[in-house]
Amino acid sequence: MTDKATLTWGAGKSAEFPILKGTIGPDVIDIRTLYANTGMFTYDPGYMSTGSTKSAITYIDGDKGILLYRGYPIEQLAVQCDFLEVSYLIKHGELPTKTQYEDWVGRVKRHTMVHDQLTRFFNGFRRDAHPMAVLVGVVGALSAFYHDSLDINNPEHRIIAAIRLIAKLPTIVAMAYKYNMGQPFMYPRNELSYSANFMHMMFATPCETYVPNPVLVRALDRILILHADHEQNASTSTVRLSGSSGANPFACIAAGIACLWGPAHGGANEAALAMLEQIGDASKIPEFIAKVKDKNSGAKLMGFGHRVYKNYDPRAKLMRETCHEVLAELGLQNDRLFKLALALEKIALEDDYFVSRKLYPNVDFYSGIVQRALGIPTNLFTGIFALARTVGWIAQWNEMIADPEQKIGRPRQLYTGPTTREVVPMDKR
Ligand code: CMC
Repeated sequence: MTDKATLTWGAGKSAEFPILKGTIGPDVIDIRTLYANTGMFTYDPGYMSTGSTKSAITYIDGDKGILLYRGYPIEQLAVQCDFLEVSYLIKHGELPTKTQYEDWVGRVKRHTMVHDQLTRFFNGFRRDAHPMAVLVGVVGALSAFYHDSLDINNPEHRIIAAIRLIAKLPTIVAMAYKYNMGQPFMYPRNELSYSANFMHMMFATPCETYVPNPVLVRALDRILILHADHEQNASTSTVRLSGSSGANPFACIAAGIACLWGPAHGGANEAALAMLEQIGDASKIPEFIAKVKDKNSGAKLMGFGHRVYKNYDPRAKLMRETCHEVLAELGLQNDRLFKLALALEKIALEDDYFVSRKLYPNVDFYSGIVQRALGIPTNLFTGIFALARTVGWIAQWNEMIADPEQKIGRPRQLYTGPTTREVVPMDKR
């Protein structure tokens, strides 16, 4: 028997709604018939209590600090798998066998180059354009190049579009960097792993071979795994909402990139590093903390707090570990910003303002320091996040398109504007 929730309002009016159960996590009240039965909508700006979809991809328990991709704990995936293995899992639902993995890697590698005409797009941007602005434009433009994978009702088109996006994002992100630097674009080298190839396209030049350092490649791979999916966050919801109208996958991912750019979302790693630079010295931490606590200052401790995690972000733990490994490998244990970050974290974790609000470091608190050590410029941090999250976005988009219950997303509102009034002719206003 299905559990039901009863809503009562007014003089003795009531309506019943089924309670749906997932495999784990909170039950949900199915209010799809609410308007038809009551003439009322729900009001939930920011979706604080709203489940927008069913999904079998990622599970988060924010109170316990748990993150699972397809049921597997992030701590195991980050240590035992590589990014393409995790991508296969997120996309297909199961970890690949050796044959499936080799086939998947082969398919992704066949698509790492971009159409040569696409390289001309970059010339239209200023050299100092923010890479995220370039990514929104160039990824959106992919829909003008790959007409043979735009039929969203054809599962084969959907898989080719997914592979193209996963394969080409590193190439495009590296091109955005090279364009900024005024260096020639580097073609992908398919004998390298996904992450090593990305580092080659970033750091090699035609006159110098780049030999990727395995410790740094592993660190980048871990950054990608930790950012690959995160349930129905703002950018993923943007991708789903865009896709719900039948828009093509390249356009939907471009919309996701635009949303990710915001400082409250993917822009936080860039903002966290800028904040550390601004604080500059451990002696300035108390002054900065006081500013953060002052609501009128508008300052936030960037890289702290999360809408869902009200406990330590499990990704932050792994990223903190990677941070130590990378800095040790590069002999940067005494890195000024890293030491400052550790001091800031210690003070914040003991301060009642942060403790009482359950504000803990999130993944972005450390990922900026790691990326900086890898030689990635600050303005590209969110681009790396976009590269990783493309896997989650495309898997979520595909899950939505294949869902028979899928409908165009169309929220309603509580109208607070003027009631009906007559237009007064201009000479009488
Ligand atoms: N520094 C100082 N105070 C904060 C912070 C912070 N980073 N985050 C939240 N608060 C305070 C907030 O002012 C509020 O205080 P009060 O109850 O006195 O009004 C309380 O904590 C609750 O905050 P909220 O704004 O209601 O929480 P939210 O769930 O709407 O916001 C957040 C979540 C991530 C947008 C926010 O914590 C934030 O802006 N953090 C900094 C940016 C950041 O690091 N974002 C990365 C998120 S992780 C990467 C990703 O998934 O994209």
